[in-house]
Amino acid sequence: MKAYVPPLEGRRSGSNLLLDFNERTMPPSKEVVAALQKFAQEGNLQIYPEYNPLIEKLSAFINTDRDYLMLSNGSDNAIDTAFRTYLSKGDKIIIPQPSFTMFAHSANLQEAEILTPSYTFENGYPLKEVKELLKTQQVKICVICNPNNPTGSMLDQEDIQILLGENKQVLFLIDEAYFEFINETSLPLVQTNENVIVTRTFSKAMGIPALRFGYLLAQPSLINEMIKVRGPYAVNMMSVTAAMTSIDHQTDVSTYVDEVMNISKPMMEMFYQSKNINFWPSGCNFHLIEKPIDNLDEKLAEKNIRVRDMKYPGYENTIRISIGTKEDTEKILAVLNSIL
Ligand SMILES: Cc1ncc(COP(=O)(O)O)c(C=O)c1O
Repeated sequence: MKAYVPPLEGRRSGSNLLLDFNERTMPPSKEVVAALQKFAQEGNLQIYPEYNPLIEKLSAFINTDRDYLMLSNGSDNAIDTAFRTYLSKGDKIIIPQPSFTMFAHSANLQEAEILTPSYTFENGYPLKEVKELLKTQQVKICVICNPNNPTGSMLDQEDIQILLGENKQVLFLIDEAYFEFINETSLPLVQTNENVIVTRTFSKAMGIPALRFGYLLAQPSLINEMIKVRGPYAVNMMSVTAAMTSIDHQTDVSTYVDEVMNISKPMMEMFYQSKNINFWPSGCNFHLIEKPIDNLDEKLAEKNIRVRDMKYPGYENTIRISIGTKEDTEKILAVLNSIL
């Protein structure tokens, strides 16, 4: 195996507009920053982490019982912990492609056999193929990345419910990294199904990917096993502090999400349509587009705008462009207009 090395280097330098990692284009609220400063200054760093206050606050925030919750070091760590707990050498796992790289990476670490039906432009999640695989193969885990990175495809909650109900022997991992942008969730299915895990993160709409905070939701019988594998100190106290404060200042998050989804996104889509650029129907804060010219990513980089050139086999002619604020959108559209 190779290490997963995302193209992160040099992004922080200069005045880059970062539209390559589906991050927020604005820092988190000033209250989050102030809470971090206060935590460091008040002499807390020499003490090991403590999670109860955050578990209480987060479970109330998402309206679930605390026994259904596991904190993690980013949702990468939640996904990896789930696979390390429930996937063994030779087990079969369905990971429709293209998708977020860490699913396959963590499954490969377990030496699992990965089944890879393909997303399609027309239908999104390959529901028919997945159903067929679940019927004909002995599958241990099935991944539903909802919405999917990089295509933005969404699977209806009714379809998910049917899939779970018909395949009680399979564990479904539902990734909701972009939940705040879509406000649709499979969380109610966690209450009623023993075979589902939902993963979420504070790296996207909440805006603290640098601190690495995520969480996982499942029935207590699953949580108890996964916590053994995750270990006692996976999340550091700066993350805990930022997450607690972020939960208390949700207006900042909803204002950002509203601007991205209701102002910037339609602006980007109108532009793509006006230039006849094909883009995948997206449920969230990014688009996968067909490159109108070969080196579009390089041309944008020359103007300090980073986008993500796709390396997935079969998708070499696509790039993924995250959506930022109205100001960011005006900036990228002005540059795109000058290039195309
Ligand atoms: C679909 C999806 N899941 C999970 C993650 C991981 O996020 P993090 O580990 O920062 O929580 C990402 C990040 O890009 C993602 O796109």
